[in-house]
Amino acid sequence: MHIAVIGTGYVGLVTGACFAEMGVQVVCVDQDAAKIDQLKQGRVSIYEPGLESLVRSGLEQQRLSFTTSLPQAMAQAQILFIAVGTPPEEDGSADLQHVLAVAGEIGRNLRHYTVIVNKSTVPVGTADRVRAAIRQELEQRDAAVPFDVVSNPEFLKEGSAVVDFTRPDRIIIGSDSERATERMKQLYAPFIRNHDRTLTMGVRDAEMTKYAANALLATKISFMNEIANLCEPLGVDVENVRLGIGSDSRIGYHFIYPGCGYGGSCFPKDVKALSAMARQSSYEPLILKAVEERNKRQRQRLFEKIQRHFHPDLAGLTIALWGLSFKPGTDDMREAPAVFLLQALMKHGVQVRAYDPAAMEEARRILPADWFTRGQLHLVRHQYEALEQADALVLVTEWKPFRTPDFAAMKSLMKQRVIFDGRNQYDPVRVRNEGFAYEGIGR
Ligand code: UDX
Repeated sequence: MHIAVIGTGYVGLVTGACFAEMGVQVVCVDQDAAKIDQLKQGRVSIYEPGLESLVRSGLEQQRLSFTTSLPQAMAQAQILFIAVGTPPEEDGSADLQHVLAVAGEIGRNLRHYTVIVNKSTVPVGTADRVRAAIRQELEQRDAAVPFDVVSNPEFLKEGSAVVDFTRPDRIIIGSDSERATERMKQLYAPFIRNHDRTLTMGVRDAEMTKYAANALLATKISFMNEIANLCEPLGVDVENVRLGIGSDSRIGYHFIYPGCGYGGSCFPKDVKALSAMARQSSYEPLILKAVEERNKRQRQRLFEKIQRHFHPDLAGLTIALWGLSFKPGTDDMREAPAVFLLQALMKHGVQVRAYDPAAMEEARRILPADWFTRGQLHLVRHQYEALEQADALVLVTEWKPFRTPDFAAMKSLMKQRVIFDGRNQYDPVRVRNEGFAYEGIGR
């Protein structure tokens, strides 16, 4: 089997490397020549456990190759994956210009029957638009090459993308063609363990499935954050409530951890895009709107707690910040709650000493330069270095090394003993017994 993957971002590269690992001949295409050069040398710029070694072994075994030429990649490919970016437009809807540009180029270069797969998260109806764009190019050059367009959404989590890809809960194949479905099943056959996990459905159904999955997970989080906030005035510990409801198998323990909001490249973007789709269909998305609104406010929650504690004047305070990435196991800071907290702290003249086990370089790259130049934000090399002369510690991302703090060391380093725990990592009783003021979320 020969396939090509267009777009060597997060999804494209994981897809290409994992299929190559299963013996498929894979060509990955990207228009960014510098990136392709790096990848040819086995260098992966994405922080993702296991990915670089898969890329390297694919290159060594000559099952994986990289090129900037789509026509070259298409020459032998039986399946083409489109995995290019779909950034949000101003109204939250997904910008399809890259997807449609690729579709046009596919149309100009199609020579034999090929299955074209939408792997990017794209609005319902995109497969139809991709099909139309390809058809238009074929008509232009008077060519009658058969093809099918399939939707095959991914459900990868950052930090465990390789494992998620190789041991999927399910493989969704949205297709209106039996020929295309059969070819997709053949491609995915090596990933099937114990029982068949492929679900075949209509193209539009598959497109919707991806959004519905992410929106439901985001809903669970926002719902739990709402319950947690309500627990505070009522004198309830949400952690007991979480265990109490999670044990109901209909509810389950997953995605009911309250905190300082969800972030990342998927949930915020997908909830917005689904809302935009609803509005375009003249349907008012009440729940989605609430999920988004709760998350926006939840990201301010830690700042509000800090403000209440140190009222009225925050200027001159030094805050230690543990965690910058949007979740543990990644250096990704897109829509990270830490960034929203930093914005508020910077605005109020607070000094911040921040540490993250993986995202320090990323922080230096994406945060406003003047936060550093005016000496307000310091990125430090060690989690305890962040605590020096700090008036409070704020935990935003639940990295493992933050779980068992050395309270004695903390006491000797910090100016005031206050902990704001944005992920409910610590036992409030234990922390208070150690002589610290403690504020969690919903307890
Ligand atoms: C998510 C989906 O899980 C994945 O299936 C999809 O393909 C892409 O989007 P990812 O963005 O990598 O993956 O992160 P995930 O682990 O799902 O966490 C998303 C956010 O929710 C994080 O900010 C996390 O801190 C937050 N979260 C998660 C909570 O606040 N509470 C929870 O209980 C779970």
